[in-house]
Amino acid sequence: MRMGDVLACLRGWHPALASAELAALLPDAVLTVTPCPRWVRVDQSTVSARTGALAVAAGLQAFLLHGETLAWTGEPAPLLDAVAAYLERHPVDGTVRVQAWRQDQRIPGVSTSALAASIGELMVGRGWDVDLHNANHVLALVADGPTATLAFGWMEGGGPAPFEHRARQATQRPFFKPVSLDPKLARLVVNLAGGPVGRGPVVDPMTGTGGFVIEASLSGRAVLGLDIHSEMVAGATANLAWAHDGDVPANASIRRGDATRIEDVLPEGWHGEVAGFVLDPPYGRNSHGTQGAMPLLVNTLASARRTVKPNGAFVLILPVEPMGERLNGDVPFDEAVQPLHGDWSDLLSLIRKEGWQPVHAHVERVHRSLSRLILLARCAPQG
Ligand SMILES: C[S@@+](CC[C@H](N)C(=O)[O-])C[C@H]1O[C@@H](n2cnc3c(N)ncnc32)[C@H](O)[C@@H]1O
Repeated sequence: MRMGDVLACLRGWHPALASAELAALLPDAVLTVTPCPRWVRVDQSTVSARTGALAVAAGLQAFLLHGETLAWTGEPAPLLDAVAAYLERHPVDGTVRVQAWRQDQRIPGVSTSALAASIGELMVGRGWDVDLHNANHVLALVADGPTATLAFGWMEGGGPAPFEHRARQATQRPFFKPVSLDPKLARLVVNLAGGPVGRGPVVDPMTGTGGFVIEASLSGRAVLGLDIHSEMVAGATANLAWAHDGDVPANASIRRGDATRIEDVLPEGWHGEVAGFVLDPPYGRNSHGTQGAMPLLVNTLASARRTVKPNGAFVLILPVEPMGERLNGDVPFDEAVQPLHGDWSDLLSLIRKEGWQPVHAHVERVHRSLSRLILLARCAPQG
């Protein structure tokens, strides 16, 4: 157990990617992953930065103020003692309640609702004013199944923040193609590339069905999507309007354009100001690409480099041979990754040659015979 500033609770899906997203959304904070990869200590962040992150993140669930963690011992007593001590150290004014949830499977023998009820009794016993419906402060209790640990602390904001994306799954949109990315991943990639909302516009130079543009626009980001094919431009525009109840929002547009000539179609004032590029290029024979996969990617990276702001970034999606789950860590750059198309070390060299510095790569499983690498790179200082 250790006390810190704030404890971030991440969602179940891919803790390492969710951690990377958190780092991108809170660039000035110091993050320390705890032994439970879904919980990250956050030091030196501001309330407004955290509120902004919580509003847009795909992988972030809640911030617990002075949050503490505790390994489950098989008995509730150590937890109740720790919570009692916590309440003494961190009193709040007004009414309180407890909200408990679990991540992943159950910790054997743990009922989060029973523990929440015991904490509620403890609060009442110590004179706290408990209000189950309209409390001023919520004490969160989170049980992490895989590590059999518990976290608790006053929850910042309403939390746990939902990331409601079912209604906008790619298959629900008016224009669907099998290349469409899942909204959860699309949102996370936009956040990785763009950083905090307000840092600058995001550009998706090969937008396909427009999944990145939808997620960026719903986050309140200025965003431009390009595609070389008019059919995609029309379809992605229809999807974008659909995601916004029928109207293309003012902060987003989709244009016909060439990813290798982004500067030709950038809105005025965006040159040198783009915070992040999200790249899901076509690979292989069914890609409908206009050039070979590698020249297209290299020329796109060069064009992005000419229009990015200092310290701006890109995130590239790269299909690779199966690499397992890798939910708790990144992929070291010296690992022998096998892209489905091209060579990994050649790709890294090309990225560097075009003026970008690879920062980290993560992998997620798509299906038995395919994984997907998600690579973040930042623009390297010139010269
Ligand atoms: C893999 S798809 C993108 C899928 C997208 N992320 C989605 O969720 O739908 C790649 C897209 O790149 C487009 N494309 C190919 N060459 C291009 C180029 N030179 N400039 C712009 N777009 C291009 C293709 O038309 C295709 O729609």
